[in-house]
Amino acid sequence: MSLYNAVMRRCLFALPPETAHRFAVSMLHRGAFLFRDADTPEILQTELWGKAFPSPVGLAAGFDKDAEAWRGLVRLGFGFLELGTVTPKPQTGNDKPRIFRDKTTKSVINRMGFPGKGLAHFKKSLGGKPHAPIPIGINIGKNKATEEFDEIVADYTACIRELNGLADYFVVNVSSPNTPGLRALQGRAALSALLSAVIGEKKETVPLLVKISPDLSEEELEDIAAVVGETRCDGVVIANTTLARPDELPKDFAAQEGGLSGPFLRDVSTAMIGRFYRMTEGKIPIIGVGGVSSGEDAYRKMRAGASLVQLYTAFVFEGPYFAERLNFQLAALLRKDGVKNCRDIIGIDSAAYMR
Ligand SMILES: Cc1cc2nc3c(=O)[nH]c(=O)nc-3n(C[C@H](O)[C@H](O)[C@H](O)COP(=O)(O)O)c2cc1C
Repeated sequence: MSLYNAVMRRCLFALPPETAHRFAVSMLHRGAFLFRDADTPEILQTELWGKAFPSPVGLAAGFDKDAEAWRGLVRLGFGFLELGTVTPKPQTGNDKPRIFRDKTTKSVINRMGFPGKGLAHFKKSLGGKPHAPIPIGINIGKNKATEEFDEIVADYTACIRELNGLADYFVVNVSSPNTPGLRALQGRAALSALLSAVIGEKKETVPLLVKISPDLSEEELEDIAAVVGETRCDGVVIANTTLARPDELPKDFAAQEGGLSGPFLRDVSTAMIGRFYRMTEGKIPIIGVGGVSSGEDAYRKMRAGASLVQLYTAFVFEGPYFAERLNFQLAALLRKDGVKNCRDIIGIDSAAYMR
């Protein structure tokens, strides 16, 4: 770790988590951390939905909710970014404090509840179709106050209508645990109606994905696989944060309400990726996320069936140059196993996750 990185990390960790996050976003907005563009090994170049990704490792949703830091983030070695979750209207989210870090296990619990400046600000901040060297996805949600199903559908379709043409892919977020009723949209009938409506609204060529929870039962996962196939949804993001609290977590930390992210999510989400890949015979692209904190973690998720991988919590703990380091770790593992390109390993271990 460079001296600059070590000092910066110390300063950020001395601040309350949300203040540190706001500070990091504003630094990235101003171009701090960017002495040079990150290098990415060629073996990681991949393609999905006809788009080129310099690396399969991207930044997960939630870090840049209002599209304010993407101009800095695109230079840090990520192969793609997912901005949002954006909701139609601005909203304050849950009461603070609402992000909690545990340094010993490198885990985070958050109960943000989609705070954000709303669709109009997001669009302005994006400033038209991003001229970015990497694909940029946009993750969309509903406002907390929107409760009737028809209005919920209208919230999602409003986001698509307003942002059509600006994203390389969209993600329908129905899995954050911090918005009451949101996860119920993962049920078969509700999800089918929601995805059909949203797909009808978007431009033909823009892929639309759905982001799901790691706390689903096997039956619920099968229902989602069926709906994704029926509605011709273009992919799934597996997974959001979990309500589970492993025994290894410090008691005070575990007592916080919200979604847990970081290392404890890793194997749960990897196994879910493997099962979903098998259920859908590898025909539905998967973005794998949850507890990725090394090249090895990304490698396992791709071997389980993920075409692309994302991370968030490790970026918080490891700092701004982490994506570049992880890319080199992943490239080294691929070379060691004699693999020519990262695409060649997608799903090769998926059978190991069958129940
Ligand atoms: C502070 C925080 C805020 C998040 N906000 C969102 C969000 O707005 N939308 C979303 O789909 N996921 C959100 N997530 C979930 C992440 O995108 C990711 O799915 C999850 O954290 C697991 O990955 P990780 O273990 O690498 O962090 C958030 C996660 C954290 C830690």
